[in-house]
Amino acid sequence: TVVTAGSNPLSTQDAVCAALVEDGVHVFSRRGMSSQEYTDNLREMLKWDPQIIIDDGGDVVSMIINERRDLIPNIMGGCEETTTGIMRLRAMVAEGVLPFPMIAVNDAQSKHLFDNRYGTGQSVWDAIMRTTNLIVAGKRVVVAGYGWCGKGTARRAAGMGAKVIVVEVDPHKALEALMDGFDVLNMEEASKVGDVFISVTGNTKVIRKEHFQNMKDGVLLCNAGHFDVEVYVPDLADVSVETVKSRENIDTYVLADGRRLHLLGEGRLVNLAAGDGHPVEIMDLSFAMQLLSAIYISGTELATGLYNVPDELDKNIAELKLESLGLKIEKLT
Ligand code: NAI
Repeated sequence: TVVTAGSNPLSTQDAVCAALVEDGVHVFSRRGMSSQEYTDNLREMLKWDPQIIIDDGGDVVSMIINERRDLIPNIMGGCEETTTGIMRLRAMVAEGVLPFPMIAVNDAQSKHLFDNRYGTGQSVWDAIMRTTNLIVAGKRVVVAGYGWCGKGTARRAAGMGAKVIVVEVDPHKALEALMDGFDVLNMEEASKVGDVFISVTGNTKVIRKEHFQNMKDGVLLCNAGHFDVEVYVPDLADVSVETVKSRENIDTYVLADGRRLHLLGEGRLVNLAAGDGHPVEIMDLSFAMQLLSAIYISGTELATGLYNVPDELDKNIAELKLESLGLKIEKLT
């Protein structure tokens, strides 16, 4: 029995839910859920007494620990899809509260090298372009976070003719961005010159009050990190005198002096809230990782803890992908 719910309040597509229901999957999600309905749906899902958890962002595992400890004896373990979820699992391990084994799917090569970099890189821009119908070429695009997702997002912006500025906190990543050909600034300086801002860090309050106050009229604000806390919306509301829904998936915050800051997809993952997410040709890799990791969990005695995907399994998925594309690679003699 497969039971599913959205992993973010704004990420569900109703047609996908309908197709899953036709295939016998139990679905607790719909487009346009409030945060409360989202959480209630996770609770409904857990009423099915799960044995294996496939999580994306860590909300399900955290709900089991906080509200449904009675389910723990029946759970063999699970897999986590994204960087933010793994950060949360690491914190649970450090506090000694993770109650079953979890596989860090995101950390496998077949996941982050492709899904995070090329998937996010493409789908973030698809969402921004279809939502705004504005030109990318010539714009100053500020990408906060030069990790796997940030690299893809920055590279694609440059490919479309944008002038890319990277904001980082890690000195190696900042140098990497510089040598990849991008400008590197802190957010204080970047906020004065950017036309489009994209946060993709997994951190919180990355773009906040003092930055909004510096921004030019008409800037676009987007987040592609897992939670809606990177472009800090409470600060945005604080500095503005009026909010107008100026287009589908765009809320315009008007400052006292008339400057307009346009927030896409409510500051939630822009590629899911205002787009279709990653192409299927990327998600096949991630979902294959999830499925094979779930099978691995169900057939292996593992102690409580956070595990990497076994190398063999990771490599096998890359081989299968190459095979599906009809490509042959060299073998060492
Ligand atoms: P990563 O760990 O590879 O990169 C994050 C980078 O952000 C790091 O280099 C870090 O130094 C930097 N950073 C942290 N705080 C910062 C700050 N205040 N200002 C500037 N830089 C800062 O992580 P990855 O894989 O790139 O994921 C980033 C986020 O995107 C996570 O929340 C992840 O869950 C999410 N994600 C979203 C996807 C989507 O479809 N939108 C797909 C995959 C991941």
